[in-house]
Amino acid sequence: MRKVGGWIWLLLAMSLMSSVIGGAEVPAMFVFGDSLVDPGNNNNLTTLAKANYKPNGVDFPEGVTGRFCNGGTVADHLGFRMGLPLIPPYNNPNTVGSKILQGVNYASAASGILNETGTLFGQLFPLDEQIQNFGKTLEELNSLLGGDVGDYLKNSLYFVCVGNNDYLNNYLLPLSNKPKKYTPETFADLLLHHFNRQLKDLYNLGGRKFLITGLGPLGCIPEQIGNSGNTSSCVESTNHLASVFNSKLKAMLDQLNIDLDGSYFLYWDTYSSTLDVITNYSSYGFKYQHKACCGAGRAKGQIICLPVLPLKCHDRRDFVFWDPYHPTDAFNVIASRLAYQGNLQHSFPRNVQELIES
Ligand SMILES: *[C@@H]1O[C@H](CO)[C@@H](O)[C@H](O)[C@H]1NC(C)=O
Ligand SMILES: *[C@@H]1O[C@H](CO)[C@@H](O)[C@H](O)[C@H]1NC(C)=O
Ligand SMILES: *[C@@H]1O[C@H](CO)[C@@H](O)[C@H](O)[C@H]1NC(C)=O
Ligand SMILES: *[C@@H]1O[C@H](CO)[C@@H](O)[C@H](O)[C@H]1NC(C)=O
Repeated sequence: MRKVGGWIWLLLAMSLMSSVIGGAEVPAMFVFGDSLVDPGNNNNLTTLAKANYKPNGVDFPEGVTGRFCNGGTVADHLGFRMGLPLIPPYNNPNTVGSKILQGVNYASAASGILNETGTLFGQLFPLDEQIQNFGKTLEELNSLLGGDVGDYLKNSLYFVCVGNNDYLNNYLLPLSNKPKKYTPETFADLLLHHFNRQLKDLYNLGGRKFLITGLGPLGCIPEQIGNSGNTSSCVESTNHLASVFNSKLKAMLDQLNIDLDGSYFLYWDTYSSTLDVITNYSSYGFKYQHKACCGAGRAKGQIICLPVLPLKCHDRRDFVFWDPYHPTDAFNVIASRLAYQGNLQHSFPRNVQELIES
């Protein structure tokens, strides 16, 4: 790269500038997944898995939206880094017309790869239904953009954050028969069998640039820690489940990169990067790495964040976790930075910035 002539650098600089001045670095971002990225798609469903009440949104300019966070989700902050506005929720009657041009978010709290995951709480959009909903958006985009959406879809980012609930709200449920039927390995295989087909569905609908999160260190969330005997260490057996899934997922994405022409599947290692923040929390500016800000019981992880609970954490930036399951806005800012411009320890085989520039 150093050897190219000065005029090429000038052209590069000009095209970078025009993309920045013209707005975002990508035409659009389409988001799929669970409550870690849900902007309020469950608000209007019959379910316990919704967050459209205070103190959620306490630090968010838009206030209460249905996000399970004091502020923005990791999808919101990643979008900001790419110059995008907040991506609107699919399941809102206002998400029509020009509002869908920079992307739509289909994520649904409690949902997973499997249709049955999370249904204990009520209605939701499982990943397959989210992909169907994306198909409906495509019809609208076709008429808005005049039929030629190929390049628009190829250059857009598809962000998929799913799988956590297939463990927390399925495999690990107290009455689940899954651990008797499946080992950690065979359960991960079952999930990835479906996930592989689902990602191919998105590819066949026109997607090329994918950012896929692995599972976080699920044994370190306040819900797991609070319900275990020891509030100062993560639950290793749960972390093991996540690690098994992640190593198989990474191999699967490597294979999809080979098999699907022109595709870029980026694996985001949220396990190592989150564990790094939790372990080295003070160097990231946090005071509490295991205890939630809003919740109750041990590690404030045994009862979900509810409007009746007094919010005693005045500085939310001191906490890695907002509630028993979800990180704070402060954490999401750090995580999106690591994914966007981080090194290969955080995402593989490149970072998001390189992905969208490719
Ligand atoms: C909620 O659902 C009702 C009935 O299905 C609909 O009329 C209304 O527009 C929906 N509101 C939102 C915010 O989704
Ligand atoms: C979910 O249900 C739909 C409709 O019955 C089906 O087409 C799809 O394959 C199911 N997905 C999974 C992961 O089992
Ligand atoms: C709790 O975990 C910490 C850190 O791993 C360990 O040092 C401590 O001995 C554990 N306490 C109990 C009661 O197991
Ligand atoms: C914590 O930081 C140290 C020093 O940067 C690093 O060597 C270590 O791997 C980090 N811990 C985790 C769990 O990432």
